[in-house]
Amino acid sequence: MSSRLAIEGGEPVRRAPYPPWPVLGEEDEQAVGEVLRSGRLTSLTGGTVAQFEAEFARYHGIKHCVAASSGTTAIHLALAAAGISAGDEVIVPTHTFIASATPILHQGAVPVFADVEADTFNVSRETIEPLLTPRTKAIIAVHLNGHPAAMDGILRLAQDRGLVVVEDAAQAHGALYQGRKVGTIGRMGCFSFWEDKIMTSGGEGGAVITDDDELAARLRMIRSHGEGPIAGERRYYHLVLGYNYRMPAMQAAVGLVQLRRLEEYLEARRRNAAYLTERLKEVPAVVPPYVAPYAVHSYYKYICRLRTDLRQAQGVSVDIERFVAAVAAEGVPISRRYPTPLHRQPVFQKLGYGDVSCPVAERLAGELFILLVHPTVSERDLDDVAAAIGKVAEAYGG
Ligand SMILES: Cc1ncc(COP(=O)(O)O)c(C=O)c1O
Repeated sequence: MSSRLAIEGGEPVRRAPYPPWPVLGEEDEQAVGEVLRSGRLTSLTGGTVAQFEAEFARYHGIKHCVAASSGTTAIHLALAAAGISAGDEVIVPTHTFIASATPILHQGAVPVFADVEADTFNVSRETIEPLLTPRTKAIIAVHLNGHPAAMDGILRLAQDRGLVVVEDAAQAHGALYQGRKVGTIGRMGCFSFWEDKIMTSGGEGGAVITDDDELAARLRMIRSHGEGPIAGERRYYHLVLGYNYRMPAMQAAVGLVQLRRLEEYLEARRRNAAYLTERLKEVPAVVPPYVAPYAVHSYYKYICRLRTDLRQAQGVSVDIERFVAAVAAEGVPISRRYPTPLHRQPVFQKLGYGDVSCPVAERLAGELFILLVHPTVSERDLDDVAAAIGKVAEAYGG
């Protein structure tokens, strides 16, 4: 292998395509086919969505699962069911996908952006506490990348002040916080089953889980036009403002197949992550994902930090953009992780968030990159990943 970088005309580390994710197969096809042939395509007419809800709730050891059309609509449902409304403040991390925060605006409430911990990339009691005001009504604790947020401190803050804690577990199916599955710790837990998530429901899909009977009833009502429970003849009687956020039956059918594979997927992701972490030990410029003592990580994404400071003292500056482009040219998939924190996004700048400062998230935006450890990836693929990272880091002085 040439040590000349591929981006400078050298031989790339890898030419073979990287294994894809997700991989759906015959079982998924059959499940979708059965729903199609039944003609019962929705949760209003067939039982597939209810079956998915029952199995997802059972997996979590929780009373209720309310399936939704996406992770975004699941979070919106949770905020609406909690009664979050105009003028209420909701604390949310600035380093996350935008859908953790936009449902707050959809409720007419005010997102308040919290900084994140430098190691877990999640909010914590320490980053949230300074932001509390008498108007604070809820906290959205995101378990980013599959690593649980430090929930004990967050719950204590919330209990003291009567705040609702909504977990955004869109990236963290099966992750454990002190042995408990994420999503079961706050008042409600929200999941996404989008195409590349740890498990998909065939492209789009989401769910809210809760142990609270009253919240579950409200979630169901708001999900479907604010209509009261339908037993017998439908009366078209609407009690509250609602939406059509229902999950279609074909999505639930795929979700059922994928849910049965979830533990196997998680095992493979964890095995791959452990292997890659071992391989990256030889690269001082790269800090592999941190795992807190309380956590079992789900590794939706394997996030590394580029130590851009490493050679600055010696006058070598390693720029994340250049680093990522050079590794990509070596033939392994890599991309930057949330290069623009939410408070710096134009959509929020226009709403007056210009003065917000979250120094840790702002620094991380220029340091983090994504590697992929999904279940179809083998050790040989990861050897190529480590080789490409090592080659570029060495060329750039790390
Ligand atoms: C942290 C986080 N929250 C919310 C969402 C929204 O989920 P969806 O794309 O299913 O609407 C996502 C999905 O990408 C996410 O990563």
